[in-house]
Amino acid sequence: MPPEDTTEEMPFRFDELFFSRTDTHGIIQSGNAVFQRVSGYSWDELIGKAHKLVRHPDMPRAVFYLLWDRIKRGEPVGAYIKNRTKDGRHYWVFAVVTPIEGGFLSVRLKPSTALFHNVQKEYDALRHAEIADKLAPADSAARLCERLATRGFSDYAAFMATALAGEVAARDKMLSRDSDGRIKRFGDVLECARALLTEAATVSASYTKNERVSLNFQVQAAKLGEAGAATGQISKNYDLICAQINASLEKFTATANDVLTTVNGGQFLTATALIQNEVLALFRCETAGDGPSHDGEIPLLVHQMNAYQRLDG
Ligand SMILES: Cc1cc2nc3c(=O)[nH]c(=O)nc-3n(C[C@H](O)[C@H](O)[C@H](O)COP(=O)(O)O)c2cc1C
Repeated sequence: MPPEDTTEEMPFRFDELFFSRTDTHGIIQSGNAVFQRVSGYSWDELIGKAHKLVRHPDMPRAVFYLLWDRIKRGEPVGAYIKNRTKDGRHYWVFAVVTPIEGGFLSVRLKPSTALFHNVQKEYDALRHAEIADKLAPADSAARLCERLATRGFSDYAAFMATALAGEVAARDKMLSRDSDGRIKRFGDVLECARALLTEAATVSASYTKNERVSLNFQVQAAKLGEAGAATGQISKNYDLICAQINASLEKFTATANDVLTTVNGGQFLTATALIQNEVLALFRCETAGDGPSHDGEIPLLVHQMNAYQRLDG
């Protein structure tokens, strides 16, 4: 069982964003001042170290399995992560990790939504199961996805898109500023697609319920003998019509699911571009101090931000 977390939380503000950049093996190459300050390590202690330096033992392995699985395939990923500071305190972030030239970039914000609070409970249960049942990371990741499905997320990608959009909007609210209109519009389209899926499921269920009508017709037709031939034919036609309607409903459902997946992806990329944009603006205002050279870092971040802005457009 993971130890009860009695550690103090390491504070950081909602207006702060942090980033770190690793090579392809997760070895820290760079980051901003917020990352260094919150971690509690000096730059000398961070640069060249594996990112698991800040790993918190309460974190389920499932999350890192999903993270690496996606980024190794060149896909961006978002995840709630609890980290440990050098002096043993903890802090939660929502991290967006994207492939970047020579490795990966992680941009993090302070989470605050109801979903975040639910996820903490899910993580606790999952970490407990990982230890008690000796769950392998892949099995634990599958279990996490099953749990997310019970909360209405068709897969991890759907979850991370909703989580990121929610956290970005909640953070804007905390900072008393307007949210980017696109995030809300994506949310509206997602709601419509979900409503269509619910309607399709209702219609499909009502046809399934009526399957017995045809059977009853056939029984009556058999009892009537020759006189029941017409009834038997009507029953067969009824069956045919039902099958055609069900097939159309299946296509309709598959298309509505495609809409959901596409809009979810668009929402994630748009929110990713927004926070990458903001972290870059914050980094430009930061004094370099004894941290990584801004001259080397800024062109990489600009390139990444432009790439994600193109993807989201
Ligand atoms: C760009 C990037 C950022 C990462 N950030 C974190 C982080 O903040 N906290 C963390 O525990 N692991 C982070 N990881 C994952 C670690 O590399 C590692 O997989 C994780 O700590 C689990 O380590 P373990 O499998 O050795 O237990 C990050 C990886 C990458 C590529």
